[in-house]
Amino acid sequence: MDAYYTVSQLRAAAADAIRAPSLHNTQPWQFRLRDGGIEVLVDPSRRLPATDPNGWGLRIAAGAALFNLRLALAVAETPAAVRLRPYPAEPDVVARLVPDVPRRPTPIEQALHAAIPRRFSNRAPFQPDPVPADARWRLTEAARAEECWLELLIGTSAVNAFAEIARGAHRVLERNPSYRAEREKWVHDDEAPDGVPATAGGPPFEPQDLLPARAFGGRERAPGRDFEPEPLVAVLGGPGNTAVDQVIAGQALQRTLLTATDAGLSVSMLSQPIEVPSAREQLRLSLGRYGTPQMVMRIGYGQPGWPTPRRDVDEVLDLTVPQL
Ligand SMILES: Cc1cc2nc3c(=O)[nH]c(=O)nc-3n(C[C@H](O)[C@H](O)[C@H](O)COP(=O)(O)O)c2cc1C
Repeated sequence: MDAYYTVSQLRAAAADAIRAPSLHNTQPWQFRLRDGGIEVLVDPSRRLPATDPNGWGLRIAAGAALFNLRLALAVAETPAAVRLRPYPAEPDVVARLVPDVPRRPTPIEQALHAAIPRRFSNRAPFQPDPVPADARWRLTEAARAEECWLELLIGTSAVNAFAEIARGAHRVLERNPSYRAEREKWVHDDEAPDGVPATAGGPPFEPQDLLPARAFGGRERAPGRDFEPEPLVAVLGGPGNTAVDQVIAGQALQRTLLTATDAGLSVSMLSQPIEVPSAREQLRLSLGRYGTPQMVMRIGYGQPGWPTPRRDVDEVLDLTVPQL
């Protein structure tokens, strides 16, 4: 058994890690080797001050990248033992991974790993078809396997109550010029390696829409191509809201997203009601769950689409730390 990871193992695993989602596709992560372990760091220079004043989004994204990293190492038969926030004096280090006892990957790890390059945020309307019970069960189990919960909102009144909270949060955020400026700065028409390509934006909001969508510059919808009338809305949450809880939630988010991809489902995220503290509290109370909501997803059967760009993996590797 290797007692340490090598630079080539780091590079290969990080190439999968960077496919994780992040707020406005800011890709706020870095990876390095230290004493034979792989470390995942948030990159605070990529935090969005108006949208993410406390770094919640950084840690969700880094947690999602960490989940991909774990999968990549597992399918390479070099699985990792993970310690979260290993150094109190270095809070930007969200995880340290050291080689665990080698073993074959499980079928679930293989399937989720294969889903990494196929996953993307699908902000367009979905088919009206309901998500079947077995897929719903797989999604809730995915969150549970990563120590979180996934609450599927059942029934029109639960979805309408959520929509009201989400629209209120959206209005609060949109009143803030710095928030709007951040979003506009990160939407691109060109081939930028980060930010949201306008082609990945959903259609602009129309009055009949139930759920608020961030305006990422998508094209007008075709006549009659409205959003599904009864969306499956899922709230992901966990036991608390410490920095570690947020990294855990990021891993659970990615496991849920990849499980959805593997089940042939599409997902878009809507985090406005998480970003506005009063809305988050309202959402928490409406669910009657212990702990804290960390993300909201709309899940269904979508049209095909394309993964969004990422920076080159070498840009997010810090190889300056002396190696063994
Ligand atoms: C913490 C977090 C919050 C997000 N919030 C939203 C959101 O409110 N609306 C949205 O359309 N996408 C949201 N996203 C999705 C990102 O915009 C998306 O992951 C990013 O643009 C990369 O695209 P991809 O998911 O297709 O890889 C969020 C992602 C993360 C990690």
